[in-house]
Amino acid sequence: NGLYTVSMIEGDGIGPEISQSVKDIFAAADTPIEWEPIDVSPILVDGKTTIPSSAIDSIKKNKVALKGPLATPIGKGHVSLNLTLRRTFNLFANLRPCRSIAGYKTPYDNVDTVLIRENTEGEYSGIEHVVVDGVVQSIKLITKDASERVLRFAFEHAQAIGRDKVTVVHKATIMKMSDGLFLSIARKVAKDFPNINFNSELLDNTCLKMVTDPTPYNDQVLVMPNLYGDILSDMCAGLIGGLGLTPSGNIGDESSIFEAVHGSAPDIAGKSLANPTALLLSSMMMLRHMGLTAHADNIEGAIFATLAEGKALTGDLGGKAKTYEYAQAIIDKL
Ligand code: IPM
Ligand code: MN
Repeated sequence: NGLYTVSMIEGDGIGPEISQSVKDIFAAADTPIEWEPIDVSPILVDGKTTIPSSAIDSIKKNKVALKGPLATPIGKGHVSLNLTLRRTFNLFANLRPCRSIAGYKTPYDNVDTVLIRENTEGEYSGIEHVVVDGVVQSIKLITKDASERVLRFAFEHAQAIGRDKVTVVHKATIMKMSDGLFLSIARKVAKDFPNINFNSELLDNTCLKMVTDPTPYNDQVLVMPNLYGDILSDMCAGLIGGLGLTPSGNIGDESSIFEAVHGSAPDIAGKSLANPTALLLSSMMMLRHMGLTAHADNIEGAIFATLAEGKALTGDLGGKAKTYEYAQAIIDKL
Protein backbone atom coordinates (compact mmCIF):
# COMPACT_ATOMS: atom_id res chain seq x y z
CA ASN A 1 0.00 0.00 0.00
CA GLY A 2 3.04 2.28 -0.27
CA LEU A 3 3.03 2.91 3.44
CA TYR A 4 6.02 2.48 5.71
CA THR A 5 5.37 1.26 9.24
CA VAL A 6 7.42 2.92 11.96
CA SER A 7 7.51 1.85 15.62
CA MET A 8 6.56 4.73 17.89
CA ILE A 9 7.72 4.98 21.48
CA GLU A 10 5.82 8.00 22.74
CA GLY A 11 7.80 8.15 25.95
CA ASP A 12 7.10 9.48 29.42
CA GLY A 13 6.13 12.92 30.73
CA ILE A 14 5.81 15.29 27.77
CA GLY A 15 6.43 12.37 25.38
CA PRO A 16 2.78 11.79 24.37
CA GLU A 17 2.19 15.52 23.63
CA ILE A 18 5.27 16.00 21.48
CA SER A 19 4.62 12.68 19.71
CA GLN A 20 1.11 13.90 18.93
CA SER A 21 2.59 16.96 17.22
CA VAL A 22 4.72 14.71 15.00
CA LYS A 23 1.71 12.54 14.17
CA ASP A 24 -0.51 15.53 13.37
CA ILE A 25 2.09 17.20 11.17
CA PHE A 26 2.93 13.96 9.33
CA ALA A 27 -0.77 13.34 8.69
CA ALA A 28 -1.31 16.88 7.41
CA ALA A 29 1.71 16.52 5.11
CA ASP A 30 0.47 13.19 3.69
CA THR A 31 3.64 11.45 4.81
CA PRO A 32 3.46 7.75 3.89
CA ILE A 33 4.05 6.58 7.44
CA GLU A 34 1.88 4.36 9.59
CA TRP A 35 2.76 4.44 13.28
CA GLU A 36 2.92 1.28 15.34
CA PRO A 37 2.79 2.35 19.00
CA ILE A 38 4.94 0.23 21.27
CA ASP A 39 5.34 -0.03 25.01
CA VAL A 40 8.91 -0.33 26.24
CA SER A 41 8.10 -0.37 29.96
CA PRO A 42 11.06 -2.24 31.38
CA ILE A 43 10.92 -5.73 32.79
CA LEU A 44 13.59 -7.50 34.79
CA VAL A 45 14.68 -10.84 33.39
CA ASP A 46 17.35 -12.70 35.38
CA GLY A 47 18.23 -9.45 37.15
CA LYS A 48 18.79 -7.51 33.93
CA THR A 49 16.66 -4.72 32.47
CA THR A 50 15.03 -5.65 29.24
CA ILE A 51 12.08 -4.47 27.20
CA PRO A 52 8.99 -6.51 26.34
CA SER A 53 9.49 -8.89 23.41
CA SER A 54 6.53 -7.33 21.55
CA ALA A 55 8.46 -4.05 21.43
CA ILE A 56 11.65 -5.77 20.32
CA ASP A 57 9.75 -7.62 17.60
CA SER A 58 8.13 -4.41 16.36
CA ILE A 59 11.45 -2.58 15.98
CA LYS A 60 13.10 -5.61 14.37
CA LYS A 61 10.24 -5.88 11.88
CA ASN A 62 9.92 -2.18 11.05
CA LYS A 63 13.66 -1.41 11.28
CA VAL A 64 12.89 2.21 12.14
CA ALA A 65 11.55 3.71 15.37
CA LEU A 66 10.85 7.19 16.66
CA LYS A 67 11.25 7.65 20.38
CA GLY A 68 10.20 10.31 22.86
CA PRO A 69 11.93 10.84 26.20
CA LEU A 70 12.00 7.93 28.65
CA ALA A 71 12.39 8.40 32.38
CA THR A 72 15.13 6.19 33.76
CA PRO A 73 13.44 3.50 35.89
CA ILE A 74 14.34 3.60 39.56
CA GLY A 75 15.02 0.36 41.32
CA LYS A 76 17.72 -2.14 41.95
CA GLY A 77 19.03 -3.82 38.86
CA HIS A 78 17.53 -1.36 36.41
CA VAL A 79 19.81 0.45 34.01
CA SER A 80 18.77 3.32 31.75
CA LEU A 81 16.12 2.24 29.26
CA ASN A 82 17.76 4.47 26.67
CA LEU A 83 20.96 2.49 26.97
CA THR A 84 19.05 -0.79 26.97
CA LEU A 85 17.49 0.15 23.63
CA ARG A 86 20.84 1.14 22.11
CA ARG A 87 22.37 -2.11 23.26
CA THR A 88 19.45 -4.39 22.37
CA PHE A 89 19.49 -3.29 18.73
CA ASN A 90 23.25 -2.74 18.49
CA LEU A 91 22.81 0.89 17.47
CA PHE A 92 26.51 1.55 17.18
CA ALA A 93 26.56 5.12 15.86
CA ASN A 94 24.81 8.08 17.44
CA LEU A 95 24.45 10.87 14.93
CA ARG A 96 23.91 14.34 16.40
CA PRO A 97 23.85 17.33 14.07
CA CYS A 98 23.41 20.87 15.41
CA ARG A 99 22.45 23.67 13.09
CA SER A 100 21.62 27.28 14.04
CA ILE A 101 17.94 28.06 13.75
CA ALA A 102 17.15 31.17 11.76
CA GLY A 103 15.29 33.65 13.90
CA TYR A 104 16.37 32.11 17.17
CA LYS A 105 19.12 34.30 18.56
CA THR A 106 22.03 32.80 20.48
CA PRO A 107 25.55 34.20 20.96
CA TYR A 108 26.54 32.09 17.94
CA ASP A 109 25.60 32.40 14.27
CA ASN A 110 25.91 29.80 11.54
CA VAL A 111 26.59 26.78 13.71
CA ASP A 112 26.46 23.59 11.64
CA THR A 113 28.23 20.82 13.51
CA VAL A 114 27.90 17.10 12.85
CA LEU A 115 28.93 14.89 15.72
CA ILE A 116 29.03 11.10 15.74
CA ARG A 117 29.30 9.32 19.01
CA GLU A 118 30.27 5.69 19.54
CA ASN A 119 27.11 4.32 21.09
CA THR A 120 27.71 0.90 22.62
CA GLU A 121 30.78 0.90 24.88
CA GLY A 122 33.39 3.19 26.45
CA GLU A 123 32.40 4.41 29.92
CA TYR A 124 28.86 3.27 29.09
CA SER A 125 29.79 -0.41 29.23
CA GLY A 126 28.29 -0.54 32.74
CA ILE A 127 31.17 -2.57 34.15
CA GLU A 128 31.86 -1.26 37.64
CA HIS A 129 32.84 -2.74 40.96
CA VAL A 130 34.12 -1.98 44.43
CA VAL A 131 37.79 -2.93 44.65
CA VAL A 132 37.96 -2.50 48.42
CA ASP A 133 35.92 -0.27 50.71
CA GLY A 134 36.35 3.31 49.48
CA VAL A 135 37.85 2.33 46.11
CA VAL A 136 35.73 1.70 43.04
CA GLN A 137 36.65 0.90 39.51
CA SER A 138 34.60 1.68 36.38
CA ILE A 139 35.83 0.14 33.18
CA LYS A 140 36.07 2.13 29.96
CA LEU A 141 35.82 -0.56 27.36
CA ILE A 142 37.17 0.16 23.88
CA THR A 143 37.18 -2.58 21.28
CA LYS A 144 38.67 -2.67 17.83
CA ASP A 145 35.40 -3.86 16.30
CA ALA A 146 33.09 -1.22 17.76
CA SER A 147 35.65 1.52 17.07
CA GLU A 148 36.17 0.50 13.47
CA ARG A 149 32.42 0.23 12.89
CA VAL A 150 31.67 3.77 14.12
CA LEU A 151 34.75 5.27 12.46
CA ARG A 152 33.85 3.73 9.13
CA PHE A 153 30.31 5.08 9.59
CA ALA A 154 31.75 8.57 10.21
CA PHE A 155 33.78 8.56 6.99
CA GLU A 156 30.85 7.19 5.00
CA HIS A 157 28.54 9.77 6.51
CA ALA A 158 30.99 12.57 5.69
CA GLN A 159 30.98 11.37 2.10
CA ALA A 160 27.19 11.13 2.05
CA ILE A 161 26.69 14.69 3.26
CA GLY A 162 29.54 16.16 1.21
CA ARG A 163 32.00 17.08 3.95
CA ASP A 164 35.64 16.41 3.21
CA LYS A 165 37.10 16.34 6.70
CA VAL A 166 36.72 13.85 9.54
CA THR A 167 38.09 14.85 12.93
CA VAL A 168 38.58 12.27 15.65
CA VAL A 169 38.15 13.83 19.07
CA HIS A 170 40.09 12.00 21.77
CA LYS A 171 42.31 12.23 24.82
CA ALA A 172 44.95 9.71 23.82
CA THR A 173 47.60 11.76 25.62
CA ILE A 174 46.09 10.50 28.88
CA MET A 175 43.91 7.52 27.91
CA LYS A 176 46.89 6.10 26.12
CA MET A 177 45.58 2.61 25.55
CA SER A 178 41.83 3.08 25.05
CA ASP A 179 41.80 6.33 23.08
CA GLY A 180 45.12 5.29 21.60
CA LEU A 181 43.41 2.26 20.07
CA PHE A 182 40.48 4.35 18.84
CA LEU A 183 42.88 6.81 17.23
CA SER A 184 45.06 4.16 15.61
CA ILE A 185 42.00 2.50 14.09
CA ALA A 186 40.87 5.89 12.85
CA ARG A 187 44.18 6.36 11.04
CA LYS A 188 43.80 2.94 9.46
CA VAL A 189 40.18 3.51 8.35
CA ALA A 190 41.13 6.93 6.96
CA LYS A 191 43.35 5.19 4.38
CA ASP A 192 40.23 3.73 2.79
CA PHE A 193 38.87 7.24 2.23
CA PRO A 194 41.57 9.11 0.28
CA ASN A 195 39.18 11.92 -0.65
CA ILE A 196 38.54 12.81 2.97
CA ASN A 197 41.03 14.70 5.10
CA PHE A 198 41.75 13.04 8.39
CA ASN A 199 42.35 15.16 11.44
CA SER A 200 42.59 14.49 15.16
CA GLU A 201 42.05 16.84 18.05
CA LEU A 202 42.16 16.69 21.84
CA LEU A 203 38.73 16.96 23.42
CA ASP A 204 39.61 19.86 25.74
CA ASN A 205 41.00 21.79 22.81
CA THR A 206 37.88 21.06 20.74
CA CYS A 207 35.71 22.49 23.54
CA LEU A 208 37.85 25.61 23.77
CA LYS A 209 37.86 26.18 20.03
CA MET A 210 34.19 25.45 19.60
CA VAL A 211 32.91 27.88 22.21
CA THR A 212 35.28 30.50 20.83
CA ASP A 213 34.15 30.06 17.22
CA PRO A 214 32.20 27.01 16.08
CA THR A 215 32.20 27.87 12.36
CA PRO A 216 35.50 26.10 11.48
CA TYR A 217 33.66 22.86 12.32
CA ASN A 218 31.02 23.46 9.66
CA ASP A 219 32.88 21.48 7.01
CA GLN A 220 33.82 18.57 9.28
CA VAL A 221 32.36 15.44 10.77
CA LEU A 222 33.45 14.88 14.37
CA VAL A 223 33.67 11.31 15.69
CA MET A 224 34.57 10.19 19.19
CA PRO A 225 34.17 7.62 21.98
CA ASN A 226 30.86 7.40 23.80
CA LEU A 227 31.17 9.67 26.87
CA TYR A 228 33.03 12.41 25.01
CA GLY A 229 30.21 12.41 22.47
CA ASP A 230 27.59 12.57 25.20
CA ILE A 231 29.19 15.67 26.69
CA LEU A 232 30.30 17.43 23.52
CA SER A 233 26.92 16.93 21.85
CA ASP A 234 25.23 18.74 24.74
CA MET A 235 27.73 21.54 24.32
CA CYS A 236 26.95 21.76 20.61
CA ALA A 237 23.24 21.84 21.46
CA GLY A 238 23.95 24.72 23.81
CA LEU A 239 25.45 26.71 20.94
CA ILE A 240 22.17 26.70 19.04
CA GLY A 241 19.67 26.99 21.89
CA GLY A 242 19.56 23.73 23.80
CA LEU A 243 18.32 20.17 23.71
CA GLY A 244 14.80 21.25 22.78
CA LEU A 245 16.06 22.01 19.28
CA THR A 246 18.47 19.20 18.43
CA PRO A 247 17.77 15.87 16.76
CA SER A 248 19.54 12.58 17.23
CA GLY A 249 19.65 9.24 15.46
CA ASN A 250 20.88 5.92 16.84
CA ILE A 251 22.00 3.99 13.80
CA GLY A 252 22.55 0.24 13.53
CA ASP A 253 22.94 -2.24 10.69
CA GLU A 254 19.51 -3.79 11.26
CA SER A 255 17.47 -1.05 12.93
CA SER A 256 17.69 2.61 13.82
CA ILE A 257 15.97 4.64 16.52
CA PHE A 258 15.55 8.38 16.16
CA GLU A 259 15.04 10.21 19.43
CA ALA A 260 14.78 13.51 21.22
CA VAL A 261 17.70 13.72 23.65
CA HIS A 262 15.99 15.94 26.21
CA GLY A 263 14.29 14.61 29.32
CA SER A 264 10.65 13.81 29.98
CA ALA A 265 10.07 17.14 31.84
CA PRO A 266 7.46 15.78 34.30
CA ASP A 267 6.96 19.31 35.74
CA ILE A 268 5.30 20.56 32.55
CA ALA A 269 3.80 17.26 31.34
CA GLY A 270 0.16 17.27 30.28
CA LYS A 271 -0.05 21.07 30.03
CA SER A 272 0.77 21.43 26.33
CA LEU A 273 3.78 23.59 27.17
CA ALA A 274 6.50 21.38 25.71
CA ASN A 275 8.48 22.17 22.60
CA PRO A 276 8.26 19.28 20.11
CA THR A 277 11.04 20.62 17.84
CA ALA A 278 13.73 18.12 18.87
CA LEU A 279 11.44 15.16 18.23
CA LEU A 280 10.22 16.74 15.00
CA LEU A 281 13.75 17.29 13.72
CA SER A 282 14.64 13.73 14.76
CA SER A 283 11.70 12.56 12.67
CA MET A 284 13.16 14.55 9.75
CA MET A 285 16.43 12.62 10.14
CA MET A 286 14.31 9.49 10.18
CA LEU A 287 12.54 10.39 6.92
CA ARG A 288 15.89 11.07 5.21
CA HIS A 289 17.28 7.79 6.56
CA MET A 290 14.27 6.07 4.94
CA GLY A 291 14.89 7.84 1.65
CA LEU A 292 11.79 10.04 2.02
CA THR A 293 13.84 13.16 1.31
CA ALA A 294 11.18 15.24 -0.41
CA HIS A 295 8.78 14.68 2.48
CA ALA A 296 11.51 15.70 4.93
CA ASP A 297 12.33 18.86 2.94
CA ASN A 298 8.68 19.86 2.85
CA ILE A 299 8.03 19.45 6.58
CA GLU A 300 11.40 20.79 7.64
CA GLY A 301 10.83 23.92 5.59
CA ALA A 302 7.58 24.51 7.47
CA ILE A 303 9.26 23.92 10.84
CA PHE A 304 12.06 26.38 10.14
CA ALA A 305 9.66 28.95 8.66
CA THR A 306 7.52 28.75 11.80
CA LEU A 307 10.54 29.16 14.07
CA ALA A 308 11.90 32.04 11.95
CA GLU A 309 8.55 33.84 12.00
CA GLY A 310 8.52 33.56 15.78
CA LYS A 311 4.76 34.03 16.19
CA ALA A 312 3.93 30.61 17.58
CA LEU A 313 6.88 29.73 19.78
CA THR A 314 6.62 27.65 22.94
CA GLY A 315 7.62 29.03 26.32
CA ASP A 316 11.18 27.68 26.28
CA LEU A 317 11.83 29.87 23.22
CA GLY A 318 10.24 32.93 24.80
CA GLY A 319 6.80 32.49 23.23
CA LYS A 320 3.34 31.78 24.61
CA ALA A 321 2.11 29.11 22.21
CA LYS A 322 0.79 25.76 23.35
CA THR A 323 2.43 22.67 21.89
CA TYR A 324 -0.58 22.12 19.60
CA GLU A 325 -0.63 25.75 18.48
CA TYR A 326 2.99 25.53 17.41
CA ALA A 327 2.20 22.27 15.56
CA GLN A 328 -0.79 23.94 13.89
CA ALA A 329 1.39 26.87 12.79
CA ILE A 330 3.73 24.37 11.11
CA ILE A 331 0.79 22.63 9.44
CA ASP A 332 -0.45 26.00 8.14
CA LYS A 333 2.91 26.44 6.38
CA LEU A 334 3.06 23.05 4.67
C1 IPM B 1 21.83 11.18 25.78
C2 IPM B 1 21.40 11.08 27.21
C3 IPM B 1 21.59 9.64 27.67
C4 IPM B 1 23.06 9.32 27.62
C5 IPM B 1 21.01 9.32 29.05
C6 IPM B 1 19.56 9.67 29.13
C7 IPM B 1 21.21 7.86 29.39
O1 IPM B 1 22.09 11.98 28.01
O2 IPM B 1 21.23 10.51 24.92
O3 IPM B 1 22.76 11.93 25.49
O4 IPM B 1 23.80 9.57 28.60
O5 IPM B 1 23.52 8.83 26.58
MN1 MN C 1 23.52 13.18 26.93
